[in-house]
Amino acid sequence: MSGNAIEVKPGIYWVGAIDWGLRDFHGYSTELGSTYNAFLVIDEHVTLFDTVKATHTEEMLWRIGQVIDPQRIDTIVVNHAEMDHSGSLGRMVEAVHPERIFASPACEKALKAHFHYRDWPVRVVKTGDRLNLGKRNVTFLETRMLHWPDSMFSFLEEDGLLISSDAFGAHYASSERFDDEVETGELMHQAAKYYANILNPYSPLVAALLEQVRKLGLKIDMIAPDHGVIWRKDPGRILSAYADWAAQKTREKVLVVFDSMWHSTEKMAESVGQGVLEKDVSVQVMDLHGWHRSDVVTELLDARGLVLGSPTLNNGMLPRMADMICYARGLRFTNRLGAAFGSYGWGGEAVKLLNEALDEMKVRRVSEGLRVQYVPTGEDLDRCRELGHTVAAAVLADSR
Ligand code: FEO
Repeated sequence: MSGNAIEVKPGIYWVGAIDWGLRDFHGYSTELGSTYNAFLVIDEHVTLFDTVKATHTEEMLWRIGQVIDPQRIDTIVVNHAEMDHSGSLGRMVEAVHPERIFASPACEKALKAHFHYRDWPVRVVKTGDRLNLGKRNVTFLETRMLHWPDSMFSFLEEDGLLISSDAFGAHYASSERFDDEVETGELMHQAAKYYANILNPYSPLVAALLEQVRKLGLKIDMIAPDHGVIWRKDPGRILSAYADWAAQKTREKVLVVFDSMWHSTEKMAESVGQGVLEKDVSVQVMDLHGWHRSDVVTELLDARGLVLGSPTLNNGMLPRMADMICYARGLRFTNRLGAAFGSYGWGGEAVKLLNEALDEMKVRRVSEGLRVQYVPTGEDLDRCRELGHTVAAAVLADSR
């Protein structure tokens, strides 16, 4: 553990930055902050793989300076143009005047559109292209739409080091740099959260990429993503988790996600949850007053059932529920089943709208939905428990 540049492999250093205070990443709550990882290779060509967010440029330069005079960098590889990894590129180009900058075809276009440069020495590389740094060779692998069109992996062949850009990452600020130095449960939770919130929409591409990597026979010894820790001890753990997440593998688990005005929908939610439990199916009841949208979708990553509840407000649903649906819909979870419920005073449109939202999310509905006027009676709550039974039975049937 050290705040300094860290030698990841002989002659290869982590020179990134730690963003302890980051709490929101375009709508995704990052309660542990994040890191922006950049890697410096000391070889005949001194090469920097990726940079950091503009706000952290000095921190990266300070770490590079612990290893070598930054002016000695002659090559920069940009695996991804998003500003958390390229934000300091302009400053770096001005500071070190690299002889060459390597990027995928889509990344070259994206860099132009970000930096509007005239004379940067950008060279385009495609899947299978190799670059010799001296003692080392790099193979490039385009990973289009994981998660931007420009995304790319760089594989340092002799070191077995896969620099994987956003893939296999986690928003996890820590003083430790490696998977074997942090608590595994928290790491896997943060990796799952990253997958659910960033990569889930591209799951078919993730599955295809894993297959491509397998076929290429890359001898991966270590995976170094651009966020979070480096998979040094057990890269197979994250590869295996990605295979499961990409396949949308779920377990016998139901989420009951709700918002409530005067506790009626809340009582209904608790009874639906109780009904699920009565069938020995795992349940998570999530009140949107306390649960962030990005934690809901993280729980959804391995849940087969999704039950949504909202009372009616102004002929619609409560805004926190609308927000959560808007967010979750874009993440394109598949192979889920569910239902809707809610209380109402007069109009009662929310359940119909929740049904429509479930249909749009391609969640297979196992009920027409359940509405209760004003305050639920004991009989109403029994009907909610029965709804829980129905969803749980469908979850169990779906797993056979
Ligand atoms: Fe971490 Fe797509 O940037």
